[in-house]
Amino acid sequence: MRDVALRARLAAVGTQGALAAHLEAGDRRKLGGVLEDLARDERIMAVEVCAPTLETISRTTSFPDRFSCESLRSRSPEWAIPSELSFADEIDGGRVHVSVHPIEDDEVIVGALVVVQDLSFVARRELAMRHFTLAAFGFVALLASVLTVFVRRAWWRSWTDELRRVLSLAHWGGTDAKPRARNAFHPLLADVRRLVADLAAERAATVAPWSAERLQHVLRENLHGDSVVILANREPYVHERGPDGAVRVVHPASGLVTALEPVMRACSGTWIAHGSGSADRETVDRHDRVKVPPGEESYAIRRVWLTKEEERGYYYGFANEGLWPLCHIAHTRPEFRASDWLQYERVNRRFADAVCEEVQGPDPIVLVQDYHFALAPRMIREHLPRATILTFWHIPWPNAERLGICPWERELLDGLLGSSIVGFHTQQHCNNFVEAVDRFLESRIDRERQAIVQGGRECLVRSYPISIDWPNRWAATAPPVAECRRMVFAELGLAQDALLGVGVDRLDYTKGIEERLLAVERTLERFRHLRGRFTFVQLAAPSRTLIENYRALDERVVALAARINERFAAGTYRPIVLRRAHHEPPAIFRYLRAADVCYVSSIHDGMNLVAKEFVAAREDERGVLVLSRFTGAAREFTEALVVNPYDLEEASAALATALAMPPAQQAERMRAMRRLVAEFNVFRWAGRMLVDAGRVRQQGRLSDRLTMGLRPVEGTGP
Ligand code: F6P
Repeated sequence: MRDVALRARLAAVGTQGALAAHLEAGDRRKLGGVLEDLARDERIMAVEVCAPTLETISRTTSFPDRFSCESLRSRSPEWAIPSELSFADEIDGGRVHVSVHPIEDDEVIVGALVVVQDLSFVARRELAMRHFTLAAFGFVALLASVLTVFVRRAWWRSWTDELRRVLSLAHWGGTDAKPRARNAFHPLLADVRRLVADLAAERAATVAPWSAERLQHVLRENLHGDSVVILANREPYVHERGPDGAVRVVHPASGLVTALEPVMRACSGTWIAHGSGSADRETVDRHDRVKVPPGEESYAIRRVWLTKEEERGYYYGFANEGLWPLCHIAHTRPEFRASDWLQYERVNRRFADAVCEEVQGPDPIVLVQDYHFALAPRMIREHLPRATILTFWHIPWPNAERLGICPWERELLDGLLGSSIVGFHTQQHCNNFVEAVDRFLESRIDRERQAIVQGGRECLVRSYPISIDWPNRWAATAPPVAECRRMVFAELGLAQDALLGVGVDRLDYTKGIEERLLAVERTLERFRHLRGRFTFVQLAAPSRTLIENYRALDERVVALAARINERFAAGTYRPIVLRRAHHEPPAIFRYLRAADVCYVSSIHDGMNLVAKEFVAAREDERGVLVLSRFTGAAREFTEALVVNPYDLEEASAALATALAMPPAQQAERMRAMRRLVAEFNVFRWAGRMLVDAGRVRQQGRLSDRLTMGLRPVEGTGP
């Protein structure tokens, strides 16, 4: 508005002289000429000259009447020419600016010039400005975005390149890793590496099934590839000299061996065991070691030789006449003799010494196995305080009251607490163990972390349900199922339409073999259509035969089978086939693949891996598992027909149901169980323990470092 007013004033001042002269001369024509000249300015719409009494004297043709000299009187009450008047108004929707300028001649007002200016250019300019501003803003915004993207990409690339380089250098120990790692990323490095490792582990956990390769990876990542030393009484390969004088390799009937052998093949290292085979001494080197498996030789067995006296006291006596019946609810009275205990202690010491000889370095990983070595963890710890000792108890752990039967219960508990981790199959056994420690020892129990702290050292108590290898090597190498069935039926002389049940065990009173045969008898009593058709074959590996209870069991089982056979025999038909002999895994798997039903009837069992082997053997998804509810396996295999083996009515009904089960239902149950074993295989069992061991070890190292770092240096203190 200031600009418009100025322009009008300039026009008035510029024409003042001419207008005054023409007014004085009364020359309207010339006056009109000046006005026409003024109106040529594109912004000046119209002009008019008024007399001092506000009457129109001359105006341009298009001058709007609304602003005539006469109309201005309303804005000037005295009807005189105002000294200063300007206002904005509208004509036909368009804005105009009107200003009145006195025309003076020798300081006498002789008239007034009214200038009407067109303000539509303001609206046009505003619009143009708005468009321009928007366009400019849009352009700037675009430019800023593009620049941001470029800068961000360049920055991200350089950041990630740097990070990647630092990580890889640090990971692979490149020579310039340290100086580089000191750069801007150094404070982040540990966090990022941990995050990457966690993500990788999480991904591996959700994606990759547990396998030998993954176990090796865990060993490399969590335990820096350190070799593993296993301490287990039973060796995985026994060299026996046969009657023909030839030496043959025997795979012992042992759940422990079934589970740990594939783990050892994956991890390599050394398995320290009692050399019990008749040709064992001939097959070791001068350090009592032999490489196994034959032909593959991926790990070593270190054999420890026991005298007859040691074996009798430690193995037959304290371990198998004392601890074995103590831990199993099998109604066999435990025998505890002081002489056996002395041998048990002595032999544990000998094996612990062998471990110390075999390990490399001051902080090895030692896997102590089973009830034969309850004292060894503490003994190993005395020599190797920084060792990571994982002890796994393969049999049930009794409640505190029952444990109290053993005169050396404190020593057993204390020996086991030398471990970094003590593992059991089930949470119930973990709870029993913790309760026993609480009752018999002075210690601090951290129930939240399931840890026992004694003398400043911590021992974790964890459940790790054991399993078998998957894919299972014996199942993978067995003949097709139909072929196995044909071979076994021919071997047993069975008719085509016969129904076959199978049981595979060591001849042990905990396995419920008598209850099993009685259940077969009851089945034949109750379900007459099965007589002459249902045959049950029991593969029973002689075990611990120097113990009277085992010999008595053997006799009872033989007598029972004979009685039942006599009762139901018809022609060549015998309902029970009892094979009291050691069977190698290929033969066992032939039977497992040929059977319609497998009955695992343990009256108490930590896990029972025969149940899992049966499932592994049946890729045809046929066959039914009847399983004792007193096995650890029954907690996992809810698709089996789970029975109380003492209850012959229930067990016989389950056997009859199994033999009549439609193939589709068999497949459904078998599929579910196979999925479970595939996922929860023995590599997972070992992997979880090793991951936990890795953590314990890492914590130990960190707190060692802290202790060393905080120790004051002599003479430097205040
Ligand atoms: O099941 C318990 C267990 O000690 C296993 O660990 C082992 O596989 C099995 O008994 C065999 O016992 P032994 O070594 O006395 O033949």
